[in-house]
Amino acid sequence: MVTLSIIKADTGGFVGHSAVHPEMVTEARDAVSTAVGDGLLLDGKVASCGDDLSLIMTHERGADAEEVHSFAWDVFGRTTGIAKRLGLYGAGQDLLSDAFSGNLRGMGPGYAELEFTERPSEPVVCFLADKTEPGAWNLPLYKIFADPFNTAGLVIDAKMHAGFRFEVYDLFEEKRIWFDCPSELYEMLMFIGAPARYVIHSVESKTLDEQAVATSTQRLSLIAGKYVGKDDPVMIVRCQSGLPALGEVLEPFAFAYTAGGCMRGSHHAPMMPVSTGDAHPARFDGPPRVVALGFQVHESKLIGPRDLFDDPSFDRARAQCNEVMDYLRRHGPFEPHRLPLEDLEYTTMATLEKRLADRWQPMVEAAVPVPR
Ligand code: 13P
Ligand code: 13P
Ligand code: MG
Ligand code: MG
Ligand code: MG
Repeated sequence: MVTLSIIKADTGGFVGHSAVHPEMVTEARDAVSTAVGDGLLLDGKVASCGDDLSLIMTHERGADAEEVHSFAWDVFGRTTGIAKRLGLYGAGQDLLSDAFSGNLRGMGPGYAELEFTERPSEPVVCFLADKTEPGAWNLPLYKIFADPFNTAGLVIDAKMHAGFRFEVYDLFEEKRIWFDCPSELYEMLMFIGAPARYVIHSVESKTLDEQAVATSTQRLSLIAGKYVGKDDPVMIVRCQSGLPALGEVLEPFAFAYTAGGCMRGSHHAPMMPVSTGDAHPARFDGPPRVVALGFQVHESKLIGPRDLFDDPSFDRARAQCNEVMDYLRRHGPFEPHRLPLEDLEYTTMATLEKRLADRWQPMVEAAVPVPR
């Protein structure tokens, strides 16, 4: 068994929230190659999307392994040091705790981890997003594993006819449920169509009895109790041989669907699939970006990455994103561009309600004089 772990954090933005500074990437790469040399990891790569730094690692220690999580925590501490030295924005932004204890649960960094027995050929895609929330994977995962108009294999490949099981988290009540699809598709959509609260955590093939997907499902604001930046989720998807083909996994991103995030984590904006070179959201701190790094995992090594959205066939999705962004921006502070109050990341409304409490009057039919 090999474990593929993506552990990520925003430890400071260059400039504002738009990118990771190259010195931080170099620091992380050096740490990862040392960890491979020391035998902690079997292989490792460093990548970024916007201001979030991802460590993509293979090892034999399983999910939630203390040594691997503590290694990532240590790397993020070092990149925070660089961010402080250079005065980068939000140095150590996602490190919500002072000290590491056991694993990263509830500490701020996000992670997606998938343990599997390597197949003779093991194509995987590591998706990294910035300026959005973990529920942003719901729509593409639904399309990849449940929509035959997206995934031809659901019709053509007999190994996919039995369907897939989706594990869905309720992030507000901290509970989870499994949905058996296609038979429970409609019930599942009732939940995952509300991605601020219900988030797909994993997907497995019923025929192969194999886990195909792992997503990061942490909600920073639920951990910190206040706005501390958007979650900027990551996801691992295994492909081919009874699982969706690589192209079926990428296909949902040819549509500029919207997700919560963008400026101040408080707006709906379209997800833009981009090459790593374009993964630097600047306009209105958006639109949210997603990169797809393809690897062949071979003998636990990460052969790659291939920068999968570096492909002109996603040009129209990018153009559609710009159209949708122009359209939504013109709503300014109005919904549906601004998130509904219950999903808004800032607590300004609570403060306002308190301050204005004694100025609210009952609505009455009879004219009352306006207080002056
Ligand atoms: P190739 O013949 O190029 O391997 O393609 C097979 C396939 O299934 C594409 O989805
Ligand atoms: P990040 O979570 O990417 O730091 O974004 C925070 C933000 O408020 C952008 O406007
Ligand atoms: Mg940031
Ligand atoms: Mg970010
Ligand atoms: Mg963030």
